[in-house]
Amino acid sequence: MMDIEFVRSRFIKHFDGKTGNVYASPGRINLIGEHTDYNGGFVFPGAVDKGIMAEMRANGTEDTVMAYAIDLKDRVDFKLSDPNGPKASWARYIYGIALEMKKLGVPVKGFNIAFAGDVPLGAGMSSSAAMESCFACGLNDIFGENKVSQWDMALAGQATEHNYCGVNCGIMDQFASVFGKAGCLMRLDCRSREFEYFPFKPDGYRLVLLDSVVKHQLAGSPYNDRRNSCENVVKHIQAKHPEGKFETLRDCTWEQLEEVKEEVGAEDYKRAKFVLGEKDRVLAVCDALNEGDYEKVGELMYKTHEGLSKDYEVSCEELDYLNDIAKENGVTGSRIMGGGFGGCTINLVRNDLYKQFIEDAKKKFSAKYGHEPKVYDVVIGDGSRKLC
Ligand code: GLA
Repeated sequence: MMDIEFVRSRFIKHFDGKTGNVYASPGRINLIGEHTDYNGGFVFPGAVDKGIMAEMRANGTEDTVMAYAIDLKDRVDFKLSDPNGPKASWARYIYGIALEMKKLGVPVKGFNIAFAGDVPLGAGMSSSAAMESCFACGLNDIFGENKVSQWDMALAGQATEHNYCGVNCGIMDQFASVFGKAGCLMRLDCRSREFEYFPFKPDGYRLVLLDSVVKHQLAGSPYNDRRNSCENVVKHIQAKHPEGKFETLRDCTWEQLEEVKEEVGAEDYKRAKFVLGEKDRVLAVCDALNEGDYEKVGELMYKTHEGLSKDYEVSCEELDYLNDIAKENGVTGSRIMGGGFGGCTINLVRNDLYKQFIEDAKKKFSAKYGHEPKVYDVVIGDGSRKLC
């Protein structure tokens, strides 16, 4: 995590010299369960030790927000009452979350904010959810007497994506950022919102991310197209079975998917096929983890990669290549992590293979693409919190 003094020094310099409160929220990893959240399925994320840190303070105005993005050296001032909000994409997260918190009854007034992050942008570790939950945590504390629940803050973050940023995302990222706990993954049922903490100490193995440094753009967007395909399949199944209640693919069986195969078309069929498979895989991973069978976990991770690449089509050449390198090195499990379209692979690797794998991945990837992948060792950290 970043240094409080670093953020504080910028906050003091760019505003009126006063200090505020400092909040932090993490990015996330996800062991398995990709694109299942908006399909009512299960996910298996954990917060990481990297995230967003923000210093915030009420500035005494009715609705003027003065915001400084430290890493971008960019300052934007805007009014919460402006129906269009700011143009800068980073400032839209602040605008959006402030309006969503107001909807939840928090009497948000004008404030100053400066923030910085060490969660890599575009790496699929959800820097945007880290921003949303960090700002939500701050607004809840400064203006809302911390009355808004953790779940409502996560949902406000998701609504910010939907209403102000153009990404029709699920709840996984904001959930993980708010609820994360050091050393634990979390299994979340995205339909009932029940979840449990899963201590994750894979003896003899470690998790490492390899970042292709290829950026994805989810807005406006192939991500939303995937979601539409899934919803379309559900609509067709519902039409065939008016007696049943089909809200998401979670409610649909393999047989029902086969029944609508022709009418939904090849593309939507493939998308739904991946989701049904992924739904089963998350549960199988839970069983394997309970038995300490990490080889099984890894096998399922490779299957997920294959599905994301061939059926869901959210991979790219670079990520497929990183996956191949993992296989060649005998890595236990490897797959694309997050929404896809660039970003990282997540790799479950035996300690004794780690060094060789990383060296080989750097060598081969840079020979082909002219740059090394970035390497992030996964440390599972805590969720949103006030630091001071
Ligand atoms: C992005 C979205 C999440 C989830 C993942 C894919 O990170 O924000 O809601 O759908 O993609 O699992």
